[in-house]
Amino acid sequence: MPHTFQSGDYSISLGDLRSTFKAWLHTRDYSQLYIITDENTHRACLPVFREKTELPDWVKVAKIPAGEHFKSLDTCQAIWQQMLDTQLDRKALVVNLGGGVIGDMGGFCAATWKRGVDFIQIPTTLLAMTDAAIGGKLGIDFQGVKNTIGVFKNPAAVFADPDFLKTLPEREWRSGFAEVIKHALIGDPELWQRLQSEAVTGSHHLTDKWYDILRASIAVKVRVVQEDPLEKGLRAILNFGHTIGHAVESCFLETDNPITHGEAVAVGMVCESWIGNLGKLEEVIAVIKSHFPHRPVPESAFPGIWNLMHQDKKNVAGKVRMTLPGAEPFSMRILEPDRQVVEQSLLFYNESSS
Ligand code: GLY
Repeated sequence: MPHTFQSGDYSISLGDLRSTFKAWLHTRDYSQLYIITDENTHRACLPVFREKTELPDWVKVAKIPAGEHFKSLDTCQAIWQQMLDTQLDRKALVVNLGGGVIGDMGGFCAATWKRGVDFIQIPTTLLAMTDAAIGGKLGIDFQGVKNTIGVFKNPAAVFADPDFLKTLPEREWRSGFAEVIKHALIGDPELWQRLQSEAVTGSHHLTDKWYDILRASIAVKVRVVQEDPLEKGLRAILNFGHTIGHAVESCFLETDNPITHGEAVAVGMVCESWIGNLGKLEEVIAVIKSHFPHRPVPESAFPGIWNLMHQDKKNVAGKVRMTLPGAEPFSMRILEPDRQVVEQSLLFYNESSS
């Protein structure tokens, strides 16, 4: 049974595309559709999307290389070039079929094309379904720093179809699970209890239980972005685990053994919980340990991580800022840790989670 959330002027539908997307499209009058995929979603998700939506074959599809590495100005240029070749007009609809990279970058290309055309998010990963596709943050990485160039613009709609999760490799599934943990800690104590007491990861677990977990996780994100769409205050709480996590992710990105976004956020949640003396520290470590591989952070990387943390968008007047869940659901604490504390927290992660 589909479930619909309203977030400002757009809806987020959780359920089969056959009953959500098709009905919505009939109420609209778009001149063209332009689908953006990457190599993975082109292969694994586009056939499902076509079968469920019965869109005609002539609908134009872009295929870009997969991965965070391609969330760049060069890729945007390739997309804009194709939009130009396709003569995409202002009444067109851009359909972002993919994970966080496609949603953020495809949305950015749409939001800037001819000063903005409508776009919808069809998230195909757990991370995108529960987090990235909701809330209108769009953009790309620049000079190795994540999400440095971008805008806020809401999609015309979001359609989350859990069937896409069946195609997700286990590691990607776990990557998204970090955001589910984050949402539980931010705003849903019941979900947090559930994550501690039930075995819930793994695409083979895609059951009604998972549908409930998706719904609960999306509800937390929707409530936060409703209250603070432009991140003037509370929305920064969604960055819990990400201040250190993003820096760790960027640091590993250029190595032979890159870390997924969720693995990095898992490291970040342990470190930031330790820095903030979070009451649930032991429980956080236990849940992270049971779902994520231990990825020790070499001490040689600490200076680079600290430098990258200076690029974080939450910082004010050169001070590193991080956000932690407060005592009550949907409340927040802001900390300004110094370099020594951050390095100690990484050492704590290295020891505690092994
Ligand atoms: N993913 C963090 C946010 O949407 O604000």
